[in-house]
Amino acid sequence: MLDKVKDLHVEIDQYNITSPEQLEQFRMRFISRKGVITELFEQLKSVPQADRRAVGQELNGLKNLAQERFDSFSQLIEEQQTTANSAPPVDLTLPTIPNLTGTQHPLSLVRQRIIQIFERIGFNVADGPEIESDWYNFGALNFPDNHPARDMQDTFFVEKATNGETSSDMLLRTHTSNVQIRLMERQKPPIRSIMPGRVYRNETISARAHCMFHQVEGIYIDRNVGFKDLKDTLYHFVKEMFEPGTQIRFRPSYFPFTEPSAEIDISCQICGGKGCNICKHSGWVEIAGSGMVDPQVIANCGIDPEEYTGFAFGMGIERITQLKYVVNDLRLYTENDVRFLRQFEGL
Ligand code: PHE
Repeated sequence: MLDKVKDLHVEIDQYNITSPEQLEQFRMRFISRKGVITELFEQLKSVPQADRRAVGQELNGLKNLAQERFDSFSQLIEEQQTTANSAPPVDLTLPTIPNLTGTQHPLSLVRQRIIQIFERIGFNVADGPEIESDWYNFGALNFPDNHPARDMQDTFFVEKATNGETSSDMLLRTHTSNVQIRLMERQKPPIRSIMPGRVYRNETISARAHCMFHQVEGIYIDRNVGFKDLKDTLYHFVKEMFEPGTQIRFRPSYFPFTEPSAEIDISCQICGGKGCNICKHSGWVEIAGSGMVDPQVIANCGIDPEEYTGFAFGMGIERITQLKYVVNDLRLYTENDVRFLRQFEGL
C-alpha cells in the first residue's frame, strides 16, 4: 500500500496540465469520489492495525498534495483563458495607423491673427452673448423700432417664455456691436477692446452668404479720440494683416450708431486691383464698417459724450480669410471637408 502511495506521489508531481480537458482528467483520477485516492482510503480498513496510523498519514499527505496541485492548475488555466480572450493576436504585417494631427480651422487662424495684431497696440479681448435682447442689438445702438436700417440685417427672433407668456424681444445677434454697449455700460473709459464672435442673419446659404458668420468688433473710447485715431488703427491693421503694398480707402457710409461712418475697402488681394470676380471687377473689396461712436450711443450707456469720444469698427472674419487664402465659397468653412481643411496644416 505504501508503494502505491509513493507511485501516485510521483505521478502527481510529474503531472503537467495545459488545457481544461487535462484538468478534468486530473480531477477524475485524483480528486473525485471515484478516484484512486478515495479508493485507497477505503482499503485502509484492511491494513493491519499496527500500520494503519502511519499509512493513514501518508494517504492524507497525498490527498492534500493532489488538492493543492488541482487548485494551482485551475488558476493557471483560468488565467490562460482570460488573456486569450482579451488580447487578439497581433498581426505585424498590417499597415500602421497614421498619426493624424488635426489642423486649425482657417477662421480660427485668422481670428487669432487679428487678436494678436490688436493686442500689440493695447486692445484687450471681450465677449458677449449670442442670444441677445432687441435693446442691446438694436435699441441702444440707435436703431429705432421700424427704422429702415434694421432691414439690412434680416433677423432671427427667438421667443422667450416668461410665466407662460411669450415675447419676441429676444434675437440671435446680427452683429457683434451688442458687446460695445455691454462694455460701455459696465466699464469706465478708457475702453479699448476687440470682440470676436458669431453672428446670425436670415440669409439663404450660398457661395456668398451664410446664416451664421463671424465678426470682430473693435471699440476705443477715451478723452480726445478722433477720426485720425480710427484711420491710424485700421491702416496699421491692414499693413500687418495683408500683403505689402495693399491699398486702403475709406468710403462714406451710414450706420445708425456711428457718425460720421465709413466703410473700409482694400485693394483686391486676388487680382491686385486689376479686377476679377471676387472684387466684382472694381479692384476693391470691403472688409469692415467703422465710424465715430454716435454721442447718443455713448449717452445711452451712461457715459458723458461731452467728455468722452471714440471710434468703433466691425469686420467680417470670413471675408478676410477669403482674401488671405483665396476661398471662393463660404460654404467650405462649415462643410468639414478634410481636403479643404488640410490645406491649412502647419500655418
Ligand atoms: N455692426 C456693423 C455691421 O455689422 C459694422 C460696424 C461696426 C459699423 C462698428 C460701424 C462700427 O454691419
